Amino acid sequence: MLPELIKGILAARPRSQEVTVRGWVRTKREMKNLTFIEVNDGSCLAGIQCTFEQGTSDAAALAALGTGASVEIRGRLEASPASGQAVEVAALSLRVIGEAPAENLPGIPAYPLQKKRHSLEFLREIAHLRPRTNTLAAVARVRNRMSFAVHQYFQERHFQYIHTPIITAEDAEGAGAMFQVTTLDLEALAKAAAQPVDYSRDFFGKKTYLTVSGQLEAETYAAALSRVYTFGPTFRAENSNTARHLAEFWMIEPELAFADLDDNMALAEDFLQFLFAAALEDCAEDMAFFDSRIEKGIIDKLRQVADSKFSHISYTDAVGELEKAAASDNGIFEFKPYWGCDLQSEHEKYLTEKVAGGPVIVTGYPKEIKAFYMKLNDDGKTVRAMDVLVPRLGEIIGGSQREDNLEKLISRMTELGMKTGDYSWYLDLRRYGTIPHSGFGMGFERLIQYITGMTNIRDVIPYPRSAGQADF
Ligand code: 4AD
Ligand code: MG
Repeated sequence: MLPELIKGILAARPRSQEVTVRGWVRTKREMKNLTFIEVNDGSCLAGIQCTFEQGTSDAAALAALGTGASVEIRGRLEASPASGQAVEVAALSLRVIGEAPAENLPGIPAYPLQKKRHSLEFLREIAHLRPRTNTLAAVARVRNRMSFAVHQYFQERHFQYIHTPIITAEDAEGAGAMFQVTTLDLEALAKAAAQPVDYSRDFFGKKTYLTVSGQLEAETYAAALSRVYTFGPTFRAENSNTARHLAEFWMIEPELAFADLDDNMALAEDFLQFLFAAALEDCAEDMAFFDSRIEKGIIDKLRQVADSKFSHISYTDAVGELEKAAASDNGIFEFKPYWGCDLQSEHEKYLTEKVAGGPVIVTGYPKEIKAFYMKLNDDGKTVRAMDVLVPRLGEIIGGSQREDNLEKLISRMTELGMKTGDYSWYLDLRRYGTIPHSGFGMGFERLIQYITGMTNIRDVIPYPRSAGQADF
């Protein structure tokens, strides 16, 4: 039998039955005749109040009990006279399983999560203990539920879940921001210096990396199973220390055969709206917490976005809007917008908040600022790319229709100086039974940021990895 969870106990109707509460002490309040212990086990936001009467045989243990201690409390579940909770536990016995000292002891510093507000920056330093706070536990539960919703969405629509490799020899985005994977003795190599490294002696007999995207392999399966998706960890060695970039993040990448950019945009919009609605419905208690403590009004905003069509704008028109804004207010952007520029996060913010007033899909980017695999438009200058931008955050999804013409793809790769021989298997998709196909990638942490209103991406993943930071 599984130990009972507080979530289940709170949902039970009190009939004076005996329950066993197990969890960690959040607060202790002592009144004249009563001591109230609030216990939380992370199964839901709420804890359960356990009330001890004066003269209990556990008085000594109770007096010594501090925040963070793990306990097992037996008692009777009763309707609570206090407001804000339906039930409470009239405690019969207390067992302290593990203490958590409030003061420094020899070899054990005081428990760092004493009852008071802690900054998110401070909590990052104790990332192994921060899931015991309301905020980080709520994030963890939303993350869990959204992972499930991602699978639910695709499974209900007959997409096959494909496990694409983590270790790869290819740069799927052609951006060169990859972590090398090697078993070579780098120190011995450094001593031998001046010699070029012989990668034929490396584990895989060639140079390999952690993947930046599962897209290329997903494409191969879409060209066989029609509707597929990947959902896995991806790695980028970009040295961008921002509130929306990680070196290790999770990405969801659907890939759809016989689909063009319009189909792709429709899928992206429907997918996001499904996820927002699922968050509101299935994480109601945690969403109410985010609404009151993290980002006021987020529930209404999500509901509105879940129910209304996304705006569409071409890259060319978007740059036009940005140039207009820059012309009328010189200081509005740090980076001056011009046709050909990569959209900066300040530009994305302006487009969502000032131009579209909500999520917006930007299409038709210049080929120079997008990956090699995107399908070239007839103008020869732009590609069938789409970025979905949302207020507060900017890019949440990036995708495209893929180049399905062998000659055009080879010519683009050659232009970019890529070794087409290394991508021969990828080019085979265009050699044998080529199809129009499209797909996109959604950063899972960006989704969680958007849903919860958390401003820093480091606070929506248990153990963030970024340049200079790989603790825990
Ligand atoms: O736009 P990106 O680089 O696109 C791809 O990787 C394509 N292969 C996707 C595809 O078409 N199958 O990344 C997709 C999304 C971005 O929109 C963003 O949400 C997220 O991944 N992302 C990151 N999230 C956190 N940290 C980073 N460093 C990220 N880089 C991208
Ligand atoms: Mg992108």
